[in-house]
Amino acid sequence: MGRIAVVAAMREELHGFLDDMGRTASKETRAGREFFLGEIAGHEVVAVLSGIGKVAAAITATTLLDRYGVGAVLFTGVAGGVGDGVRVGDIVIADALVQHDMDARPLFPRFEVPLTGTSRFAADAQLAALARTAAEQALALDLAAEVDAATLAEFGVSAPRVHAGLIASGDQFIADAGKAAQLCADLPGLLAVEMEGAAVAQVCADHGMPLAVMRTVSDRADAHAAFDFGRFVERVASRYSHVFVRRLLDALSA
Ligand code: ADE
Repeated sequence: MGRIAVVAAMREELHGFLDDMGRTASKETRAGREFFLGEIAGHEVVAVLSGIGKVAAAITATTLLDRYGVGAVLFTGVAGGVGDGVRVGDIVIADALVQHDMDARPLFPRFEVPLTGTSRFAADAQLAALARTAAEQALALDLAAEVDAATLAEFGVSAPRVHAGLIASGDQFIADAGKAAQLCADLPGLLAVEMEGAAVAQVCADHGMPLAVMRTVSDRADAHAAFDFGRFVERVASRYSHVFVRRLLDALSA
């Protein structure tokens, strides 16, 4: 399938994985980003931090696809859970992604990316199914070894679940329960919000590139979101990404 790209917005979301790669990786800088090239679980991998927001993510995705012979893109990191029952510590796998701040009304319907005829960019169904299994296995088999019980309890994580559905991206950190509820009302089936996935999805759609987006829920996009997000990113997020990406790469080898 060619080289697999593993992308996250922030270092904290990927450092476990980057540490793993460190032993084999070489590093190149392009467009101000460091691209780590190596091999994991029998796959050629390129790992990169996208930076935060849709433009940074689109630049990263474009550079990856133009320069690194990529055959699939895995985007991982954290998100604000907005759907019913989507709790801190759960994992959300995108089956489709939407840019929630795209609004060119009255010229085009709300959320539609002008001249594409679409508002929802699909993730690759096969990769998403593998990602779901990888996430379920990571939660059931790896989490307890990666994050100690006291830390999970402190974050209120118990019996975390995997959800598959719609993820919305925008150049906004959502920290307002009313706003989160409005987005859920406007985008039926919405599970989580973040700031990059749908931009990468648009780039991948233009290139016919398979994409999976997997996000761990760090906060509930409410008044506590900034506090919860900061603590979660620092202490837990990279452990999740690490075991999930490893399991997904293993599944891709099988
Ligand atoms: N990433 C993690 N939490 C988020 C939130 N509440 N809003 C936007 N992006 C996020």
